[in-house]
Amino acid sequence: MIVGPRGPPLPFLDPLLGILAAMPHLSELHGAATHLAVVAIPLFAILHFVRRAGRGGAAVVGAEPWALGASLVGIAASGATGLLVWGEAQTTLRGQHFRVGNVHFWLGIAIAALAVLAAGDWWRSRRRGGVHHRPVVVPILAVLVVVGVAVQGYLGGRMTYEHGVGVFDGGQLAQTATGVSKLDVALAKGTSRTAAGRMAFSAEGLGCARCHGDLAEGLRAPPLAGGRDVMDFRRVHQHGLFPKAVVSDADFAAIDAWLKTLAPRGRRG
Ligand code: HEC
Repeated sequence: MIVGPRGPPLPFLDPLLGILAAMPHLSELHGAATHLAVVAIPLFAILHFVRRAGRGGAAVVGAEPWALGASLVGIAASGATGLLVWGEAQTTLRGQHFRVGNVHFWLGIAIAALAVLAAGDWWRSRRRGGVHHRPVVVPILAVLVVVGVAVQGYLGGRMTYEHGVGVFDGGQLAQTATGVSKLDVALAKGTSRTAAGRMAFSAEGLGCARCHGDLAEGLRAPPLAGGRDVMDFRRVHQHGLFPKAVVSDADFAAIDAWLKTLAPRGRRG
C-alpha cells in the first residue's frame, strides 16, 4: 500500500489517495469482474455450438471470437481480483470453512484451464474451416465450463452470504452489534426499559426507526406502535438483521416496553 501508518509519505499522492478511498473495495471489484466471465462464457459456449451445428451464418462466425475474447478477459480479471479477495478470506472464514475458499479457488483454475482448451479448439477448428473434427469432446467441454461457472457463482455467493467474506465493516449488521451493546449497557446501568427501548429503537440505536418510523407509526415497514409479540419479530428479522444470538428476548422486551407506551395508529390495532 502507498500509505503507511503515519500518512502519505509523498504529498502529491494526496489527490490520488482521495480517489482510491472513494473506490469500491476489493470484494466489490471481484464481484464486478466476474460478471463479464459469467455472461461471456455461456455466450461463447452457445455461439460455439451453433456454429459447429452449421447454423447462424456469418453473424455467429463473426461474434464467436468476441465472446471468446470477453471470456478470457473476464477469467483473467476474475482471477486477479479473486487473489485479492483470497487475502480477505484468510481473516474472514473461520476454521474449516476455508474449504469453501479452497474449492472456489481450484474450481476457478479448472474453469480457466477448460476455457483455454476451448479457445485452443476454436482456433484449430477455424483453421480447418470449422469442421466437426471432435464432435464429442467439445460439447462436453462446453457443458463442463458452463456448469463450473454456475457452481463457482454459488460457492462465491455462499462465501459472502453465509460467511460474510468481503462484507465491508460488517455491513448493516455492524449497527445491530453496536446498538445491542448500547442497549445492554443501558439496561445494566438500571435505565428503565422504556427509556432504553426508545433509544434502541431510534436511528442511533438498532435503527428500527429508519424502517418503522421514529414513533413506530410505520414507514416502509409496518407500524409497531402499541407493541408486538416477540414471535412476530423473530419471524421477520431473526435470519436477517437481528439474529437471536445477538438481539436477545430481553432486548426485544425493552423495545416492546417502549412500543407499548405508543398509541397504536394505522392499519393494525
Ligand atoms: C431495514 C428495514 C427494517 C429495520 C431496520 C427493522 N425492520 Fe422490522 N420489519 C421490516 C419490514 C419490511 C417488515 C415487514 C415484513 C413482513 O411482514 O414480511 C418488518 C416487520 C417487523 C415486525 C413484524 C410486524 C408485524 O406486524 O407482524 C416486527 C415486530 C418488527 N419488524 C420489529 C422490528 C424491530 C424491533 C426492529 C429494530 C430492532 C426492526 N423491526 C427493524 C423492516 C425493518
